[in-house]
Amino acid sequence: MHQHGWCLIFQVLGQEYYSQIWLTVSNEMEGEMPKLKITQASVPEGVIDLGVGQPQVDLLPLKILKTAAEYQFHQADANILQYGMQQGDANLRCVLANFLGQEYGVPVDQGSLLITAGVSQALDLICSLMTRPGDTIIVEEPSYFLALRIFGDHHLNIVGTPMDEYGLIISALEDNIKKFNPKLVYTMPVFHNPTGVTLPADRRADLARLSERHDFLVVADEVYQLLAYTNEPPPPMTTFDTAGHVISLGSFSKILAPGLRLGWMHAHREVLEPFLMCGLLDSGGGLNPFNSSIVSSAIELGLQKENLLHLKDVYRTRRDILSRALRAQIPVLDFRVPDGGFFIWARFKDETEAAAVLASAVRYDVGFQPGSRFSSMNGLNTYLRFCFTYYDSGDLVEGVQRLARAMDAAG
Ligand SMILES: Cc1ncc(COP(=O)(O)O)c(C=O)c1O
Repeated sequence: MHQHGWCLIFQVLGQEYYSQIWLTVSNEMEGEMPKLKITQASVPEGVIDLGVGQPQVDLLPLKILKTAAEYQFHQADANILQYGMQQGDANLRCVLANFLGQEYGVPVDQGSLLITAGVSQALDLICSLMTRPGDTIIVEEPSYFLALRIFGDHHLNIVGTPMDEYGLIISALEDNIKKFNPKLVYTMPVFHNPTGVTLPADRRADLARLSERHDFLVVADEVYQLLAYTNEPPPPMTTFDTAGHVISLGSFSKILAPGLRLGWMHAHREVLEPFLMCGLLDSGGGLNPFNSSIVSSAIELGLQKENLLHLKDVYRTRRDILSRALRAQIPVLDFRVPDGGFFIWARFKDETEAAAVLASAVRYDVGFQPGSRFSSMNGLNTYLRFCFTYYDSGDLVEGVQRLARAMDAAG
């Protein structure tokens, strides 16, 4: 037996799923064994939280990783358990370069890849090595709220820059660069979280030119690059870099499994140099060599490709179902159907505050992420973000119906 109530905390907590917290009270009086929580998201039974920005557990590839691990163990090479090389497992870099080259449609050199423990870790390392407390960085408005937390950990001064339906507005960015002389610009140029938009090739070239002219680093978080459902995006930001000012960040979190904690930096070799020399990799060796060996088998065996195709099929269908349900049930929401990624970013046409709607939604066991969480400027109050990857189609439709009922009830 469980009882639950909700407590709304928007700004404090770090995990992606916490648009709200359900306070779950387990009834130990009845002798139930408390369940140990082992994952980041824990939505109580019966609740549909469309704010959770993760893959559905049923889509995580246990079978693929079992096959890949068996293949790797069959080779009986104990080096996979040794400290790894600083740049990351060489086998993984080779097969990954080949895989990415095919997916991007442009060649990728294995020497331009550095294996990370995911985008979050890469962002933290970039801040450690490239910034000092008090430095100014520029982010998009809106931006990925948990990246904002990482920047906060490094005591950086965060300046938001507006976007339009094509991503960063380059003229506004240039104004801010002249005004604030930033150390770096953090951007999500492809299937942006939360807006879903993709920066077109001409703006990418402009951004790369600006980084050269004003000598700042572009940190391009491209975690959704490979999840295109309609139109293919331009190749990664680093392919627009002629002067060594761009790092593209990728991750296996969205195409295989977040629990692997595995990703990559992709940049010109000279950009990677400070990372290769850093104390973290000197002391600990390359990141996650054991997981790297298993993932390199998954790629080699064609299983990564298979998994990606499967995810794209499933997510495309779910995106369409959620979009249709929102259009039909909640016409006051204005949104574009994204070409890829995980999210639909919507706005109340009548300027309703998302936080107020969320407060009534909780009583109907449904949730979403209020837009204010993605603002570094205390704005975006009339926006909200839905994720279409965590629930199957039936739950997505049911979640939207509940939200519509909650809004009707609130008048
Ligand atoms: C834009 C963006 N960057 C980074 C991450 C986290 O990536 P990783 O699991 O590789 O640390 C997420 C996850 O939601 C994300 O949406």
